[in-house]
Amino acid sequence: GAPVEVDISKLEPGMLLMVEWRGKVVWVLKRTQEMLENLKKLNDVLADPTSEKNQQPPYAKNETRSIKPEILVVVGVCTHLGCSPVFRKDIAPADLGPDWLGGFFCPCHGSKFDLAGRVYKNVPAPTNLIVLPHIYLSENRLLIG
Ligand code: FES
Repeated sequence: GAPVEVDISKLEPGMLLMVEWRGKVVWVLKRTQEMLENLKKLNDVLADPTSEKNQQPPYAKNETRSIKPEILVVVGVCTHLGCSPVFRKDIAPADLGPDWLGGFFCPCHGSKFDLAGRVYKNVPAPTNLIVLPHIYLSENRLLIG
C-alpha cells in the first residue's frame, strides 16, 4: 500500500486523529505538555518502558516514541489478539487504577497502553503498540507508512 499523507494543522493538543493505512486504523495523537510530563512517571509500571522490543523505527526509540515529542503515530491494534483499544484520557479512573495516566485500553482482555503506546506490566499484550514509519514533509504534513 502507498504511504498516506495526513494534514495535522487542525489537530489540537489532546486530540486523536484516526487515519486508515493498508486497511488498518492508525492513530495520530497530539499530546499536551501535561501528557508528555506524565510519560516520565510510568517507567515502573510498564513492561518495556525504553522500547527495547523494537516495535518502532529506530528514530522513534526515544522517551516519547516519536519524531516530534507531541505527535504519536501508532497502529490502533492491540498487540495481544488484534482488538481495537479505546482512547481514554482520564487519569486514575476507578476501573483502570491509580497508575493510569491516560492512554489506550483494550476492552477484549484488559491490556493497557500509555500515551506513547507502551504496554503496562501484567496484561495479556506482550509488546508496545507499533509505531509506524513516518516523516514530516513540512511542519504540518505527515507522511505515514
Ligand atoms: Fe487486546 Fe486481548 S486483544 S487484550
